[in-house]
Amino acid sequence: MQNIIEFKNVTFKYDDNSPLLENLSFNIKKGTYSVLLGHNGSGKSTIAKLIIGLLPLKNGQIFVNDLQLNEENIDKIRNNVAIVFQNPDNQFIGSTVEDDIAFGLENRCVEQEKMPEIITKFATLVSMENFLKAEPSALSGGQKQRVAIAGALALNPDLLILDEATSMLDPKGKKEINEVISILRKNNPNMSILSITHHMDEAIIADEILVLNKGQIVKVGTPKDILFDQKLLEENNLLPPFVVNVRKQMLDNGLDIPLCFSIEELVDKL
Ligand SMILES: Nc1ncnc2c1ncn2[C@@H]1O[C@H](COP(=O)(O)OP(=O)(O)O)[C@@H](O)[C@H]1O
Ligand SMILES: [Mg+2]
Repeated sequence: MQNIIEFKNVTFKYDDNSPLLENLSFNIKKGTYSVLLGHNGSGKSTIAKLIIGLLPLKNGQIFVNDLQLNEENIDKIRNNVAIVFQNPDNQFIGSTVEDDIAFGLENRCVEQEKMPEIITKFATLVSMENFLKAEPSALSGGQKQRVAIAGALALNPDLLILDEATSMLDPKGKKEINEVISILRKNNPNMSILSITHHMDEAIIADEILVLNKGQIVKVGTPKDILFDQKLLEENNLLPPFVVNVRKQMLDNGLDIPLCFSIEELVDKL
């Protein structure tokens, strides 16, 4: 399987600080939903910025979809990577939902006549088709992030990066985004999704989780390998997912139930 992202011996530091990333190497396979998991300040957003060349790479190599990140390839790479960031209010650029989705298309010089169809298609994908004329102030955080995802997807990227895209949302908003991710994975099996988070409940549906700590990937594995490994989570300053916490409390109280990946499954097992 080919890689969508490859870091080779990347060392990065801000100004005169000690290196944040040190000799960092890892791969993310094409067509997967991968989660980069690390505590606050572990360098996740720095990695996202390095991938799209927003920070200077001085030591090591980065490849995105087999293209080496350098001056020659940077535009090609940026055209194939879309990022949704944390703050729903900072991402909303248009004055209405349809303007917002159109914004990226205009930047890519998509013909005006083709836009309505593209806008409707992606607004529908994130269940925002009835809000095309709505202004940002009329939308919840989750709805704004869904519009941001629609705008990103309309650009037809090979790689979608979600950098803490749900961390400012309430549980309902988080659930909405996770549902959109599930739909994307079904409909676009070739698109790679990298979710960057310190929040476990997103990691639980991943194909692969990479744990970042002290400038290194300390562990790569499936959700089962990682989210139920209490020692690993503690060592890396991560909190276990809700269902794992509940299960632990039950085990501590003598109620033996199997590993569960969702609240629904837990309820079912009970
Ligand atoms: N522009 C910057 N200049 C100096 N230090 C920075 C800058 N951006 C981030 N940092 C520091 O680098 C570390 C990692 O930041 P970041 O990549 O944002 O982590 P994360 O996204 O995992 O929370 C933090 O300690 C942060 O304070
Ligand atoms: Mg961050």
